[in-house]
Amino acid sequence: MTVLITGGAGFIGSNFIYYFLKKYPDYKILCVDSLTYAGNLSTLEQAMKNKNFRFFKTDICDRSEIYKIFENEKPDIVVNFAAESHVDRSIENPEIFLKTNIFGTQVMMDACRKYGITRYHQVSTDEVYGDLPIDRPDLFFTEETPIHTSSPYSSSKAAADLLVQSYHRTYGLPATISRCSNNYGPYHFPEKLIPLMIINALNNKPLPVYGKGLNIRDWLYVEDHCKAIDLIIHKGKSGEVYNIGGHNEMKNIDIVKLICKYLGKPESLITFVADRKGHDMRYAIDPTKIRNQLGWIPETKFSDGIKKTIEWYINNEKWWYPIISGEYKNYYEKMYSNR
Ligand code: NAD
Ligand code: TYD
Repeated sequence: MTVLITGGAGFIGSNFIYYFLKKYPDYKILCVDSLTYAGNLSTLEQAMKNKNFRFFKTDICDRSEIYKIFENEKPDIVVNFAAESHVDRSIENPEIFLKTNIFGTQVMMDACRKYGITRYHQVSTDEVYGDLPIDRPDLFFTEETPIHTSSPYSSSKAAADLLVQSYHRTYGLPATISRCSNNYGPYHFPEKLIPLMIINALNNKPLPVYGKGLNIRDWLYVEDHCKAIDLIIHKGKSGEVYNIGGHNEMKNIDIVKLICKYLGKPESLITFVADRKGHDMRYAIDPTKIRNQLGWIPETKFSDGIKKTIEWYINNEKWWYPIISGEYKNYYEKMYSNR
């Protein structure tokens, strides 16, 4: 079995590669990643030592290069993680989001049609459903919730989902889609809430909380997401959408306070800054379908997962220090100074 994983030098894709190399030692694992600011080859250092793993520095929008890889490697399964993934960046510059997230998805599916695969899996997000009101804790996103996006990021992901569904219906492409809630864990790029707060707290820097910090996200340990995708690509039904989430809703401010407490840092580091434009209030997934149909349940409790994650950042400064001292410095300056 040959599995082609796009975006594998990023956060979730790399965790998925390590999960697969361990679980399926007889599979050939290919990673296609163009190494944008969010892709990091050092993340794949251990994978590179595995004889079943191969890395291709290729843009998923580059049709002829993608076709060459399919022609030579003949993947059976394709899992598309590659994307521009940060909401704040999509507000600043939507264009690259449309290119990679929509056009890139099309190129990958065209390659699948041309060369034949047994399954194409699109890694999507709960953000395609928009947000839920904070005073209606009884409401959750199901697979039937209408698409109702808020940011250029979520709109581009929703467009890709619709394209996947159309390729399944029109061309019979064997395809599945998963829509997961917010992930956390090792190799999470420092621009996102949890790693940003851990790294800033470790460096005694201000912790910039948007608005009042009352927005709610439904956090899932990244390995549980990988396990869900594993089940979907092996046992899920073609043409189906599966929501993934662990019923773990938390307010942003509570997460930041928890990080301060764990690291023994004062809450006076917390700084309330201008809110994100169009900021989604609450995400909450109903994972009944994947639980009932595929037997998936989240295994890592948030209290354990967050400790493991904080410890990982404490022990892996060699991974994040080069990131925060490089181009990221300019990004941080632009996004957070005078906010
Ligand atoms: P990430 O930003 O950490 O990684 C994205 C990876 O894709 C990087 O390695 C980058 O180099 C690569 N990439 C970007 N553009 C590319 C292109 N044109 N060609 C080839 N490679 C390219 O993202 P992530 O957090 O790991 O998210 C992975 C996927 O999961 C995305 O599709 C995202 O929408 C989805 N998702 C993320 C979350 C989350 O909480 N992070 C939750 C649900 C769904
Ligand atoms: P983020 O990690 O960007 O994920 P998403 O927007 O895709 O859910 O943000 C998670 C939440 O944290 C979101 O409500 C925005 C908020 N946030 C802050 O308050 N401060 C920050 O510096 C960042 C990056 C996010």
